[in-house]
Amino acid sequence: MPSSKFLTDKVALVTGASRGLGKAIAVALAKEGASLALIARSTEVLQGTLDEIRALGSVAEPYALDVSDGAAVEAVVEKITAQFGHIDVLVNNAGVTRDGLLMRMSSEAWDTVINTNLKGAFNFTKPVGRQMVKQRSGRIINISSVIGLMGNAGQANYAASKAGLIGFSKSVAREFASRGITCNVVCPGFIETDMTKDLSEDLRKKLLEKIPLQRLGQPDDVAGVVSFLTSPAASYITGQILTVDGGMVM
Ligand SMILES: NC(=O)c1ccc[n+]([C@@H]2O[C@H](COP(=O)([O-])OP(=O)(O)OC[C@H]3O[C@@H](n4cnc5c(N)ncnc54)[C@H](O)[C@@H]3O)[C@@H](O)[C@H]2O)c1
Repeated sequence: MPSSKFLTDKVALVTGASRGLGKAIAVALAKEGASLALIARSTEVLQGTLDEIRALGSVAEPYALDVSDGAAVEAVVEKITAQFGHIDVLVNNAGVTRDGLLMRMSSEAWDTVINTNLKGAFNFTKPVGRQMVKQRSGRIINISSVIGLMGNAGQANYAASKAGLIGFSKSVAREFASRGITCNVVCPGFIETDMTKDLSEDLRKKLLEKIPLQRLGQPDDVAGVVSFLTSPAASYITGQILTVDGGMVM
C-alpha cells in the first residue's frame, strides 16, 4: 500500500539541527517520511537528533560546518546532492544571538549575528535553489523571529538579521515561483530552548503578560507549522510570514 506520509521519498536539509527548534523540525519532517541532511557546527552535537530520526526508521546524515562559510556550504550541498540525489525541502534555522545595547555593540557582535542568521540563509538558498530550479519543485522555509517584526532593545543586530530574512524570503519567493518553488517565513515568539533558557523569572513573568495564550511556546509548536509548509496543503502559499507566538504580535 502506498505511504500516506507526504514527504516519502523527499529529502530535507535542516540547518542548526542539533537542538531546540532545528531538532524538533528535523524530527517532524522525518515523521512525514523525509530523509534528513542535518547541519551543525560539529557532527558530535547532531548525535541525539540522528538517533531520534533513525529510531523512527528514517534516514539521516550529519554534516559539520559553519553556515556563514559560503565555500564550505557549496561543498556540503554538493556532497548531500551526490549522496541523496536531490534536496526537496530547505529549512534555514541556524541562528545565534549576541545581545547588547547599540551604543555598546561591537562590530564583531554585529557581524557574527548577520553572517550566521542572514548570510547563512543566502549561502544555502543559492546552491540548493539552483537544484530546485532544475527539478522545478521545492519548499524553502526560513526561521525568522517576532523580533524581526517588532524590534527589541538590546537586539539591534538580531532584529536586523531577522527582518532581513523576511525581505530576502519575499524576493526568493518571487524569483522562484514560476519554477514551482515556494519560500515562506516562520516567525517564532518566545519558545523554550537553549536560546531562551537564561531568561530571568522576572522577565518570564513580564513576557507571559504579553502573550494572549499565556504560555511560552514549545519547539513542537514551531515544528508543526514548518511541517505544514512542506505539505501539499500549503502548495499555494508563498512569500508569507507565519507568526507562531501565542498571539503576542497581531
Ligand atoms: N527559541 C526562541 O524563542 C526563538 C524565537 C524566535 C526565533 N528563533 C530562531 O529559531 C532558530 C533556532 O533557535 P533555537 O532556539 O533552537 O536556538 P538554539 O541555540 O537552541 O539552536 C541553534 C542551532 O543553530 C546552530 N548554529 C548556530 N550557529 C551556527 C553556525 N554558524 N553554523 C552552523 N550551525 C549553527 C546551533 O548549533 C544549534 O543547532 C534560530 O534562528 C533562532 O533565531 C528562536
